Amino acid sequence: MTDSPYPEIKKTHTMAHTGRPWRDRKPPPSASVWSVIQGFGNYWTLVAAIDLGVFDTIERLRSTTVNVLAVDLKVALIPLQHLLDALVSLGYCDQVDDIYELTETSERYLTTQGPASMAALVRGAPGPHQNWTHLADTIRTGIVTEPIENDMAGFYGPLVQATFPTQLRASTRLGARLGWTRRPNLRVLDLGAGMAPWAIGVLQSSPGSTAVVNDIPGVINLAQATVEQLHLTDRVEFRSGNFHDIEIESDQYDIVVLGNICRTEGDELSRSLVARAHDALKVGGSILIVDYFADKTRKFNPFGVQMGLTMLANTVRGAMLTDEQVVKWLQDAQFTAIRLLEPIGFHFVYVADKQLTTFTH
Ligand SMILES: C[S@@+](CC[C@H](N)C(=O)[O-])C[C@H]1O[C@@H](n2cnc3c(N)ncnc32)[C@H](O)[C@@H]1O
Repeated sequence: MTDSPYPEIKKTHTMAHTGRPWRDRKPPPSASVWSVIQGFGNYWTLVAAIDLGVFDTIERLRSTTVNVLAVDLKVALIPLQHLLDALVSLGYCDQVDDIYELTETSERYLTTQGPASMAALVRGAPGPHQNWTHLADTIRTGIVTEPIENDMAGFYGPLVQATFPTQLRASTRLGARLGWTRRPNLRVLDLGAGMAPWAIGVLQSSPGSTAVVNDIPGVINLAQATVEQLHLTDRVEFRSGNFHDIEIESDQYDIVVLGNICRTEGDELSRSLVARAHDALKVGGSILIVDYFADKTRKFNPFGVQMGLTMLANTVRGAMLTDEQVVKWLQDAQFTAIRLLEPIGFHFVYVADKQLTTFTH
């Protein structure tokens, strides 16, 4: 048979052999496989462009030819042209004839000083890169080659600097929704605070508010430097140490933040952090659990699923967090008024309140 474009299907999938041939139609395109293969190259294209300073330099020049850019960056002309054309194909540069410019996306997210810069995040977000090349072994054995827990400060130092602008934007927007500006003198506890974007969001919104900021030695100094730079030092107490062990007062806080920390802790330890938060809150106070969650079918929010796999590939206990699981932690800890907010796209925050326990007879 030479007339069938898909002879392998025609030969085997007949009614006589296999019943109604539910796949006896045009096979699916291979594009999704190519897109994953090329995703590897696309990732490194972006890393190279950031490392070489391509986005920052084009922004400074406004628009440029390859010749001018090659001289400015001190790189070879033809390879640079390949890189720029690849960036055009990814939507990070516009090109007309010989002129290249940034797109709005790269201006906003890929320049160092962009209003929501992710430039420093691109290298760090996947975790130690070599862990991905060993993913099959990790899935076979459950063992991660280089878990981030081996060098917490070494990993988290650069990461929390890279995520600070995005997290501060998220916390400020959440504060606008929750009315922090109209609620003076809030007391906030920020566990695993990184550079403290969540505590700072409260401090900058709520007049007279104060914070206890926690992180491990080697990272907490970054929070101290940021808080000092923003002239907030007299409103912050720094409490260094493991958030599972540090002393936390009962019934003292209006807000307790678990900002992007549950995903590395696994079910049991996260549940215990939520219970600690409940104990720390005043009646009427709120917990904020900030993270990337998967829905309960683990199908409809690819971002939450991929974040789960990233945790599996890079951490000792970390895993996917589902909405169902988080709601269960909150309910079991006696939180009420559980709601899910999305202060910035794809990034969700569970907010829930501590209420006076009422007994019914
Ligand atoms: C993904 S970062 C999140 C930082 C910040 N909360 C935010 O949302 O931007 C996780 C932070 O938790 C801190 N951390 C992880 N395990 C910790 C522990 N056992 N005790 C205290 N801090 C911890 C890390 O050092 C890091 O700063």
